[in-house]
Amino acid sequence: MNAAIRAAVRLGLAQGWEMYGVRRGYAGLIAGDFAPMLARDVSGILQLGGTVLGSARCPEFETEEGRWRALRELRQHSIEALIVIGGNGSQAGAYDLYKMDYPVVGVASTIDNDLAGSDISIGVMTALDIALEAIDRLKTTAAAHQRAFLLEVMGRKCGYLALMAGIAGGAEAVVIPERDVAPEKIAEEIRQAYLRGKSHALVVVAEGARYNAEMMAQHFAENRARLGFDLRVTRLGHVQRGGAPGAFDRLLATDLANGAVEALARGEFGCLSGLVGGRVVTTPYKDVIGVVKPLPAHFLEMEPLLAR
Ligand code: F6P
Repeated sequence: MNAAIRAAVRLGLAQGWEMYGVRRGYAGLIAGDFAPMLARDVSGILQLGGTVLGSARCPEFETEEGRWRALRELRQHSIEALIVIGGNGSQAGAYDLYKMDYPVVGVASTIDNDLAGSDISIGVMTALDIALEAIDRLKTTAAAHQRAFLLEVMGRKCGYLALMAGIAGGAEAVVIPERDVAPEKIAEEIRQAYLRGKSHALVVVAEGARYNAEMMAQHFAENRARLGFDLRVTRLGHVQRGGAPGAFDRLLATDLANGAVEALARGEFGCLSGLVGGRVVTTPYKDVIGVVKPLPAHFLEMEPLLAR
């Protein structure tokens, strides 16, 4: 997100606009927590994860009263338009503001990659790299000790991170909300992997899957004698959201922020700046908010075959 903030500030200044940062997301918007941003204010932030402006879950903004308060603050500070960097929740809030006649453009940013209007969002590739590092490290112990490992990754109700980490990391099985797999079936896949001569067994589970890491672990513990092996669980959790963003994310963030600034400059509002088919485009919020983005079908099909 910092790369997007930096690009939005500097490209906005280049348009001749005055730029302000809103601290703490919608909570800061309601509180009028705005900071003038000059080119030097966004120096040295490209390599930092997260956002220097801070972020917050803000239940108040979900109420009409909260949104009117935010709008009042924006008008009182003579802020003429808003760029919202974030995922589904943030963009839904941005759409609400737009429906109240306020000029808003969004920038697709969420590690979950569940936002329609962008094939890939800011943060996904870096989060995947972190998951891969964990998988590679877990495999060392898995191979040496003949143990099965289960890695739980984030993603809310979307299995994108788990599916892609599983494929790129060479997992024996992937469990995602979009494709339910019962613990018994996973146990069988691990057993088959050993029978095929594999020295390790690694399963990637999405946090939103029906049988999440906790339920899998419980099943394996209860059936330890029958299944014949231990299953160790690692939950990556917020580790995935930290660390330095990779090259792809820095460039994507810069490009999507540029797309948002250009949209504002030509007077196009109520849309999301995202990457579609390799190009930065804007998609109207009505085609983004509430739209379910499917997982890439060919990767879904390939995954079980690659785990052979
Ligand atoms: O939406 C991004 C995300 O990291 C999800 O993958 C995860 O479920 C959630 O946010 C965690 O939210 P919080 O930081 O509020 O616990």
